[in-house]
Amino acid sequence: MTVNDLDKSRIPAHLAVIMDGNGRWAKAHSLPTRLKGHEAGAEAVRRALKACDLMGVRYLTLYTFSTENWKRPKAEVEGLMALLSRFLDANVEELREKGIRLRIMGEREPLPEALLAKLDKACEYTRPGQKLDLILALNYGSRLEIARAAAKAAKAALAGELDPDSLDEETFSRFLYLPDVPDPELMIRTGGEMRLSNFLLWQLSYSELYVTPKFWPDLETEDIIAAVAAYQKRDRRFGEVSL
Ligand code: IPE
Ligand code: IPE
Ligand code: MG
Repeated sequence: MTVNDLDKSRIPAHLAVIMDGNGRWAKAHSLPTRLKGHEAGAEAVRRALKACDLMGVRYLTLYTFSTENWKRPKAEVEGLMALLSRFLDANVEELREKGIRLRIMGEREPLPEALLAKLDKACEYTRPGQKLDLILALNYGSRLEIARAAAKAAKAALAGELDPDSLDEETFSRFLYLPDVPDPELMIRTGGEMRLSNFLLWQLSYSELYVTPKFWPDLETEDIIAAVAAYQKRDRRFGEVSL
């Protein structure tokens, strides 16, 4: 499967990915820690970026760390934060060169201060990028995002800036983390689990879902192109009757 097999007029503008299976990958390779799987996963991120570049995807959202992932052992959580920091060090220059803008969605608290500072710097440094927005869902939980949006809407109403009776899907979505980003047309989950795990519940309402049993560190550029090819075969009815 190559990019030439795709219909260029139907490339998803926004691709969202649940990068799952790093721990199982490490176990399958008899590696000493789950962190080795996360490290291999960072390489797969580079391949995903390449796939998006080849296809002309405009937004790529990667589920990087969920609000639930704090429940993991301290060593794994700290290892993941350190890995993200190293990933930024190693890739930020290339991101900027390639026109890739780094963005973050999620709650800042309780992410480590030093990591937040580095993320802010990287986001600022890559801000001119207009080819692709690389959005890291970090300390992200969709129910929390929606609850926070509701709180922001309530505050706007109290301040007299919003008429509660006018609140509809469009106006409400402006209170979510990244209101300028369109909903993903396609969501890929690796690792075979058939669930959303609190990822983009609002934004995925009408997205096409693609689940592959492959573990994230095994995902190749071609696998992402294959997912898009599968998406292009879907009949997106949006509740209508297809012709
Ligand atoms: C996904 O891989 C990465 C993160 C959640 C940070 P996992 O670590 O969940 O890997 P599995 O699902 O246990 O194999
Ligand atoms: C979802 O994977 C979170 C990320 C990929 C960052 P998890 O492995 O945490 O999800 P569950 O536990 O299978 O639902
Ligand atoms: Mg998992």
